[in-house]
This record gives sequence, structure tokens and C-alpha cells, in this order.
Amino acid sequence: MNTPVFLEKLRSVVGPAYVLTEGDLTGYELDWRKRERGKALAVVKPSSTEQVAQVVLACAQAGVSIVPQGGNTGMVVGSTPDASGTQVVLSLTRMNAIRALDADNLTITVEAGCVLQNLQEACEKAGFLFPLSLASEGSCTIGGNLGTNAGGTQVVRFGNTRELCLGLEVVTAQGEVWSGLTGLRKDNTGYDLRHLFIGSEGTLGVITAATMRLYPSPKAQLTAFAVLPSLQDAVTLLGLAHQHLSAGLTGFEVMGQFALGLVKKHFPDQRVPFDGTSPYCVVLENSDSESMEHARTQLERLLEVAMENGCVSDAVVAESLAQARALWHIRESIPLAQAQEGLNIKHDISIAVSRIPEFVGLADAALAKAFPGVRLVNYGHLGDGNLHYNVQAPLGADAEAFLRDQEAPINAVVYALVDVFNGSISAEHGIGSLKRDTLTKHKSPVALGLMRSIKSALDPQNLFNPGRMLSSSAALDS
Ligand code: FAD
Ligand code: MLT
Ligand code: ZN
Repeated sequence: MNTPVFLEKLRSVVGPAYVLTEGDLTGYELDWRKRERGKALAVVKPSSTEQVAQVVLACAQAGVSIVPQGGNTGMVVGSTPDASGTQVVLSLTRMNAIRALDADNLTITVEAGCVLQNLQEACEKAGFLFPLSLASEGSCTIGGNLGTNAGGTQVVRFGNTRELCLGLEVVTAQGEVWSGLTGLRKDNTGYDLRHLFIGSEGTLGVITAATMRLYPSPKAQLTAFAVLPSLQDAVTLLGLAHQHLSAGLTGFEVMGQFALGLVKKHFPDQRVPFDGTSPYCVVLENSDSESMEHARTQLERLLEVAMENGCVSDAVVAESLAQARALWHIRESIPLAQAQEGLNIKHDISIAVSRIPEFVGLADAALAKAFPGVRLVNYGHLGDGNLHYNVQAPLGADAEAFLRDQEAPINAVVYALVDVFNGSISAEHGIGSLKRDTLTKHKSPVALGLMRSIKSALDPQNLFNPGRMLSSSAALDS
């Protein structure tokens, strides 16, 4: 390949200002967790679907692989280039328009680079709720959310990003545009292609726009923060919450005391309620279509029953929107507090909710025995059976050296138990390159073979995000 000619071609497509090859490219080349730093041949920033298609064609002709990128907040090293200096980072952030809102159809059509928070705010202004909610919402994009099938804190009621998506527009590896922005709720005309691209982590095509579901804004949202004697009590409380709040239960997050301690340590301005002696706390949210009064009566009744039952030892209900935000902010600050504490090992696992306490009991004991001093940062989306069962190096240890030496054996212990419990090694963050080899060990050969067939059918040149999710060579996966 003649690199100067290739770069000139890209400049002619998107404009010279939008082909970045020098200067500080850290934001595009380093992943959010600072696990790996890559090197891009160029960062290309198209402003239209047509430009994306032309960039893909130019790359295909030159044999240059493409790493689609949104906000680069992914957790598994999937949106940054490898270290070869030969890949193009295709940043979608300039494609951030809201194309249409159909109030009667309860849908919004939006370009892939739209930042999630901007989408949420636009919907709210129009009187609707777009329920996807993640702590990274100020910088992650709807394209990245779809690429990872992101979960977040409202899945217990609204499902993952996949459930919120009714249509996609995608640029294929052949540089064609698949326009599937129908917004239909029923369409059984063959394979549902949208579901192939959602959660494919940029390995099958470039999502350029999506039609997403909207919901009516709730009349009231009430948040409570509860203290619990054990994780089993959190599961009991979840059952009670489903019973008492039904579809009003829009959030149910669990936080271990050590995780909350990290928030207190690194963000001392935040007021974490209660004294920190109970092992677990829960943030839960009741959304109501009637009134604030109704929401409060329901939530207070739930907490009363839970206290009588003994599964909640104390609780506080937010009195204002500001207080509710502050309670959620505590939960959302855990990943940031963990990052401040140093490099760490993340486990984004899912297990049947009913079996989570047993899993955690066994995993805690096994890790404490095999890796004395490790600090367990356990929190997550209990309502979805999804825990971030994370591991921080022992106090005072060199975190980088700890990860180098202990990450693989720690993962082996945790994931072996996940298998025993028929769980998943990645509930919402995806695979990227960080969990690619782990996937090979924990997914059946039949499933891996089907995934590989899909990849080679849609992207025979292995143009999109090679080496992510699946290794570039079939031999490595067997
Ligand atoms: P990127 O990181 O840029 O990309 C992620 C993947 O999607 C990559 O494989 C990339 O190639 C692909 N991709 C990006 N754009 C496109 C596109 N247009 N077409 C095709 N593929 C594309 N995740 C959760 O699921 N739940 C959480 O609660 C959550 N909380 C988080 C909190 C914090 C503080 C942080 C930093 C991250 C959190 N995440 C969470 C992870 C992350 O924010 C999500 O994975 C998010 O969906 C990534 O969006 P992004 O735009 O940053 O994508
Ligand atoms: C979260 O739930 O906070 C996110 O998935 C991010 C993380 O686990 O670090
Ligand atoms: Zn999460």
C-alpha cells in the first residue's frame, strides 16, 4: 500500500481537517481503563453515512483494517487500535444529529455518534424517556452502546440496548449501506439483521444511525438507599420490590461496603448514608405514572415490609431530585473511585439472581485463600443478575506487577466458578481483546464456530476490528 496516496484519498473523502495523523491522539489510542495504548495509522472522522461508506471502500481497497470508535469508554479494549500503526480509527463523533422523533410511534432516529446524555436530554425536552442510563453517559455514544449492547442501571425494567433498538443503518464491509431504520415493532421478513450488528463490537459493520424506542416520561421517580445484613437479603429485597412495585421498579443496584469505602476515600465530598458497618447497600428506584404521592406510598410500604422481614436494617428515601441524584451518584462513582485506587481486574459476570449469594460466598473464600490480601470490589446490577465482581491489588502492592502476575490465575478461579453456576463471563461490557481468549475457553465450540461463520460471511476480508472478540486465526480459537 502507498500510505501517502491512501491518506490523501481519506482526506478527499472527509476533508483534510478530519484525518488526524499527528499531535496528541491519546484520547483515540488509549482505552478508558488505561490497559493498552495502541497506535493508529490515522483517525478518520466522517460527517455522513456516505462518507463512512467511502472510507470503508478506500480501506477495503488498500487492505487497511478499521476500528470503529464512539466515546472510547469501553471496558474491554475494543475501540482503540492495536500497536501496529496500520489501523484506521473510524471515529463517529461528528455524526451526532437527531434525525427524527416520531411521537406517535414512540421512536427517535439518531446518528451513531450522538452522546447518550444528549439523546436523553433531547428526549426529556420532548416529554419522553429514553431509558438507557450508564455512568459514562456524558461521553459514550449510541453507536458504542449498540456496538456493545450496553446494559446500565435501568435494565431491570427496560432491557439492554438491544431491547431499545427497533432499527439500524449500517455500512457493510463491502461499503454498501443497509437502511433498516423502519421503526417497526413487528417484522418477520427473514433473519433479523439488526440483532447481528448489535453487540458485535464493531466486528461486522459500522453502525451509522439507529431508531430507538421511547417511553412516556414518568410522573415521578423516587430513589431509596437501603442497608442490608447480607447479599441474600438483597436478593430477598429484590423479590419484594418486584412484587410491590411491579413495572415501577426501574433500578436495583447493589454495592459492597468496600466499594462504598472507595467512594468515601476518593470522593470525600460525597455523603454516603449510614455508618458503613453493614456488608451491602442497595440503591433502588420506583418510577410511577400516577404521582409522587403514589410513588412514595408504594416505596415506603415496600421498605416497611422489608424491615419487618429483616432483609433491610435501615433505609432512606430521597426527599428531592437533588437527593436522588446524590444517591445515584454514589453508585455511579464506584468505577471512578476504583480507577483512582489503581489498576484493577474487572469481572462483569452474570448468574441467575437466586444463586448470586452462593457464588459470592464461594468466590470470596477461594480468592482470599489463593491470593491473600486481595481486595474485592463487589457491586453491580443485582436486578439483572449482573455483578462487577472486581479485584483490587492488596494494599501497598504494585498494581501493575500484581495484574501482570495474578490476573490470569484470578480470572481462572472466578470464571471456573462462573461455569459451575452456568453464568456468563461478560454480561454487558463485551469481549474486546481483553476477554477474547477467555471467551474461547468458556464458549462452546459450536457457538464459536457459528460466530466465526457469521464473521467471515459478513466481513470476509477481516476489515472490521480484527482480533477483537474472535482471534484473527481460526486455529487460535480451537
Ligand atoms: P466505544 O468504547 O468507543 O466502543 C465500544 C465498542 O463498540 C468497540 O468495540 C467499538 O469498535 C464499537 N463501536 C463503537 N461505535 C460503533 C459504531 N458506530 N458501529 C459499530 N461498532 C461501534 N457499560 C455497560 O454496559 N453498563 C454500564 O453500566 C457501564 N458503565 C460505565 C461506567 C463508566 C464510568 C465507564 C467509563 C464505562 C461504563 N460502561 C458501561 C462501558 C461503556 O461506557 C459502554 O460499553 C458503552 O456502550 C461504550 O460506548 P462508547 O461510545 O464509548 O463506545
Ligand atoms: C458499572 O456498572 O458501573 C459499569 O459497568 C462500569 C464498571 O463496572 O466499571
Ligand atoms: Zn455495569
